[in-house]
Amino acid sequence: MGGDLNSARQLAKEFTCSKRAAAAAVLAIVLAVVLASAALAASTTTLLPATTNTTAPSGSDQAAGSEDLTTRCLTCHSQEYLGTVQDDKGTQNLYIDSAAYHDSAHGLLPCNACHTGFSHDPHKMVNNAEFFRQTANEACRNCHDDQFEMYKQSYHGTLSRGGTAAGEKAPICIDCHGTHAIQKVGTLEYKQSISDVCGKCHGGREGHGGREATFLDTYHGKAITLGRESAATCVDCHGAHSILPVSNPQSTLSEANILPTCQKCHPDASKGFSTFLVHVKPTSTKAPLIVFAVAVFYLLMIIAVFAFGGIHTLLYIYRGLKDGMYFGKGGGH
Ligand code: HEC
Ligand code: HEC
Ligand code: HEC
Ligand code: HEC
Ligand code: HEC
Ligand code: HEC
Ligand code: HEC
Repeated sequence: MGGDLNSARQLAKEFTCSKRAAAAAVLAIVLAVVLASAALAASTTTLLPATTNTTAPSGSDQAAGSEDLTTRCLTCHSQEYLGTVQDDKGTQNLYIDSAAYHDSAHGLLPCNACHTGFSHDPHKMVNNAEFFRQTANEACRNCHDDQFEMYKQSYHGTLSRGGTAAGEKAPICIDCHGTHAIQKVGTLEYKQSISDVCGKCHGGREGHGGREATFLDTYHGKAITLGRESAATCVDCHGAHSILPVSNPQSTLSEANILPTCQKCHPDASKGFSTFLVHVKPTSTKAPLIVFAVAVFYLLMIIAVFAFGGIHTLLYIYRGLKDGMYFGKGGGH
């Protein structure tokens, strides 16, 4: 009996011992975690002012973390009533859709990643919209140097510095990508939107003979619209940041380069294939004979069908009149 009791005590003691050991272990872990996070916190507090310093030289912004800063800016700028302001420099839309910003590819960037050195302090407010538009490419360049370098050499890039003879506007980064709701480019939705991006300036959906309309009318355009992701859009043939006139030998579509460009997706394409006209109004006489013939055939079909329908209806009415169907002579039925 006593032995039993003893062993029971022993058991109890061992139990409490192991419990204590476990508790101690847990305590040690907790302590370690606390210490580690304290160390981490210490290192971030010493790092934070340094990083913010490089992006936000303006005094009042220095103390804030990037999330805080964005929240602070959006306190005012996400108010729709801020809306559009007009001054002698033109109109500015000061409203920023907060949800769209956070959903964008830049949702995690603080506002001053692009608005470098920005402050509402009147003494520091150097960035009016005009100035910022001029420096916008540089702001993008800070993080997207590759695209900037390609763009700089392109026809659009050259024109954006020199201006066009006709005074047309050549696109800078934000004309194609937008500003506060920049989308990731890898998705089908983005691919489907590219023709509209270019179409803003190169003959839109309605523009007959325009580049977008003629693209949408042809095989690639229809395939993209239907969700065929592998079909070509404007930039698969022309490039996105390195666009050059087709007459330039460096162009992806110059005489020397067009076949390899088509072959990216049509590996078996031969010289004849690349002469297939990609922008073409089917009813134009420049269209390949078969396309032209089909277009004409359709047109004739449409005329024939309507003519037949029309004649049929006229005869029907004529018959009705003769039978007195419409003027209640009580004929027929
Ligand atoms: C990816 C770069 C980028 C980021 C990040 C960014 N902006 Fe902008 N912002 C621009 C550019 C470029 C313009 C000039 C637009 C123009 O001229 O069409 C601009 C213009 C503005 C304007 C003036 C509107 C106008 O029509 O000129 C306001 C206000 C503004 N931004 C606020 C913000 C706020 C607030 C944030 C953070 C939530 C932010 N921006 C984040 C690039 C950026
Ligand atoms: C207290 C409200 C408020 C806050 C906070 C605020 N803004 Fe503004 N912002 C305004 C108003 C009002 C204007 C228009 C009047 C003006 O130009 O000062 C404006 C104008 C702007 C413009 C266009 C002015 C120009 O010079 O072209 C930009 C860009 C801008 N804000 C960015 C920011 C950024 C970035 C932040 C955060 C660092 C921020 N704002 C925080 C109210 C605010
Ligand atoms: C003429 C319109 C246009 C201009 C101007 C333009 N882009 Fe693009 N950009 C595009 C298109 C379209 C894509 C998608 C390319 C694709 O799907 O292959 C793209 C893709 C990108 C990408 C994703 C990576 C990549 O290279 O595909 C980044 C980053 C980018 N652009 C940044 C910039 C910057 C920075 C500038 C200004 C120096 C700029 N873009 C100017 C149309 C443009
Ligand atoms: C502070 C750095 C920074 C600045 C300034 C900046 N970006 Fe970005 N950008 C990023 C980061 C980070 C991403 C996200 C990359 C990712 O998710 O793979 C991104 C993504 C993008 C994408 C989508 C790329 C893709 O692969 O889908 C485009 C387009 C783009 N940026 C254009 C611009 C333009 C135009 C500007 C100037 C108005 C600009 N960026 C300014 C850092 C920046
Ligand atoms: C903001 C307007 C604008 C946007 C957006 C734009 N372009 Fe352009 N583009 C121009 C202007 C202006 C010229 C010069 C036209 C000229 O010299 O007659 C040009 C020239 C060209 C050229 C050289 C051939 C020519 O017509 O002279 C090609 C190719 C081209 N763009 C393709 C594109 C593609 C592809 C896109 C979309 C990824 C695009 N552009 C987006 C304005 C734009
Ligand atoms: C399958 C490849 C392909 C696609 C997709 C494509 N193009 Fe083209 N594009 C060409 C070829 C080839 C030419 C030269 C023959 C011609 O003018 O039709 C050309 C010519 C052009 C020109 C005149 C260039 C010059 O130097 O005169 C512009 C501008 C243009 N395309 C814009 C666009 C736009 C905008 C889109 C999308 C809406 C687009 N292209 C889609 C292949 C393509
Ligand atoms: C980004 C990929 C891509 C590029 C680049 C491309 N195409 Fe296509 N093209 C396609 C796809 C995908 C189809 C649909 C094929 C199918 O349905 O089997 C297609 C279909 C076609 C068709 C009709 C169907 C057929 O096979 O006869 C023609 C014609 C055509 N492309 C011509 C061209 C020419 C010319 C070029 C070069 C100037 C070119 N394509 C560049 C992807 C591309």
